[in-house]
Amino acid sequence: MAPYSPIEPPDQIAKRLNLPEEQIIKLDANENPFGTAPEVLEALGNGRYYHIYPDPAQVNLRQVIAQYADCSPEMVVAGTGADELIDIACRLLLETGEKVISFAPTFSYYNHVVALNKGRFCSYPRESDFSISLDKAKQIDLTGVKLVILCSPNNPSGNLLEEAVLDYFLSQNLVVLVDEAYHEFSQSSFLHKVKNNENLLILRTFSKCFALAGLRVGYGIMSEKLARGFMRIKPPFSVNVAAEIALETCLNNLPHFQDQVAELSRIRDWTQKELSVFQQLQVTPSQSNFILCQVLNTNAADIFQKLQEKGVLVRYFATDLLQNYIRISIGTQAQMEILLEHLKKLIN
Ligand SMILES: Cc1ncc(COP(=O)(O)O)c(C=O)c1O
Repeated sequence: MAPYSPIEPPDQIAKRLNLPEEQIIKLDANENPFGTAPEVLEALGNGRYYHIYPDPAQVNLRQVIAQYADCSPEMVVAGTGADELIDIACRLLLETGEKVISFAPTFSYYNHVVALNKGRFCSYPRESDFSISLDKAKQIDLTGVKLVILCSPNNPSGNLLEEAVLDYFLSQNLVVLVDEAYHEFSQSSFLHKVKNNENLLILRTFSKCFALAGLRVGYGIMSEKLARGFMRIKPPFSVNVAAEIALETCLNNLPHFQDQVAELSRIRDWTQKELSVFQQLQVTPSQSNFILCQVLNTNAADIFQKLQEKGVLVRYFATDLLQNYIRISIGTQAQMEILLEHLKKLIN
């Protein structure tokens, strides 16, 4: 199988491009551009138990996450990023050859993990505005389908999942995984549905809004029954002690992150407007911390390459469904202004 396409860390990128590290503007992985919160750095410095294994039962972790998500700790499972939880879901639910449904374009890791777990990934195309058509969803033959993976806001398009589509799949006696990695930016969630739907699994991450991508921690909220399955098969020590300290500190400092989300949302709306001025860019309205653009009459690969030479990294797509697209993560105001200056020169 093809390896998962890697994202380079800033020091490696700087070395490869022969640029100073300070010049790298990383807008390719939807990370938090404000960096690790100072409170988190301080708490990590004060950690005393890095020589001891983490708690395999995740007692404290499950409790603090449950308090944040307003559910019982028995409904929570933490993992090394949402990525690990997607993998555990597939390991738990899939027998060889069983089908997993998703709607493309979406997060490419789903396909990779389903294949790794010997499932069959069945991808259906989204509409031209990247929504999922309920009528077409109802026509899908669900024989042999075990899991449906939906993403809201969807990466890379930034639009929300329609509730009617979720309700339809939930009514079909399938496990439905809703990936809410970016829900803080859209202020919307389907978490409230978990209590009445044993088969609904919500995944979230501390990598994006909470700026802990390098520490690797995410969580799932699900029925106690599903959570028992997750807890039974998860690696015992996957979430490390430092990540637990960082996570708890983030949750004790929510206003810090709420302010950053408000600022990033403002910058996103401003950037969207600025990008819309370019006739060669077709901007997809986003509810997340990234913006997808189709590049018209100009080569997106060239733009990607030339931005990279200046130290500005965006994501370039050349797939069947995303021909000539770039995705831009929302950085600081100053970073977005630099990006726009480069774009003006490159596109005009
Ligand atoms: C939709 C989506 N889900 C999950 C992830 C992975 O998150 P984590 O860093 O928690 O593994 C990403 C990362 O980009 C993502 O875009």
